[in-house]
Amino acid sequence: MSETTIRDLQWKYDEGEALTMLTAYDAPIARLVDRGGVDMILVGDSAGHNHLGYDGTLPVTMEDQLSNTAAVARAAEEALVIGDLPFLSYGTSLEKSVENAGRFLKEAGADAVKLETAPGGEATVEVVSRCTELGIPVQGHLGLTPQRMNQLGGAVIQGREGAESAAADELVETAHALEAAGIFSLVLEGLTEAVAKRISEAVSVPTIGIGAGRHVDGQVLVITDVLGLGGEGYSLSKQYADLDGIIEDAVADYVEDVESGRFPARENTYEPIDEQ
Ligand code: KIV
Ligand code: NA
Repeated sequence: MSETTIRDLQWKYDEGEALTMLTAYDAPIARLVDRGGVDMILVGDSAGHNHLGYDGTLPVTMEDQLSNTAAVARAAEEALVIGDLPFLSYGTSLEKSVENAGRFLKEAGADAVKLETAPGGEATVEVVSRCTELGIPVQGHLGLTPQRMNQLGGAVIQGREGAESAAADELVETAHALEAAGIFSLVLEGLTEAVAKRISEAVSVPTIGIGAGRHVDGQVLVITDVLGLGGEGYSLSKQYADLDGIIEDAVADYVEDVESGRFPARENTYEPIDEQ
């Protein structure tokens, strides 16, 4: 279990401080993200395209997610570790959903799980309610929910009908239902700023935005976008480093060293012959 608890997050939120979350999919990056001081590490199913080489999140399996989450949980000491339930691992039946959520805590060492809810989605609200009753903390996720990409017709920003529209009303109602079911925080993804603001004001758990503007209670970004590591990045994200460039240069230097005989040198050699 990490040092950070869901009560710490609620205190920070009550004090009006912004919450921070980043994704991680493996131990070395998780260790650095943890040391960097984020409140939460999300082992997102965005591992699909950012870590596992799939072309999206839908193929990601429970086993993929449990393996990635276990690696992250072993490395993170401070941040709350949240395992993301993959597509169809929840919602098909209550029993299966709760068992799968529980595996993240029992087998992978996560502190909490996250799952996506469609506007008006009752099945997933019921899953949240049962999980929280049993002691599995749940983070909700509303808006542009990538597991419903085919249903939404692509990666389309939600809430464009306006903050006073029926669609926005339904999102607010769903956020209330999730809150009543016991979520400890709520990810708002790909929403117009006005709708994200309305939802944030409507609930008393912290909202964590990605592509949801400024009027939310915290932010989450995908670590590979932040580090410039593979992939195309996300237009509403912010890139803080260029690891692609650093890694490409390092690999090219290594290839050149081996091909030119500069590596291995004497200092890279165990019992060099010229010492005997
Ligand atoms: O999988 C993921 O990385 C996510 C975040 C974008 C919230 O769900
Ligand atoms: Na996700």
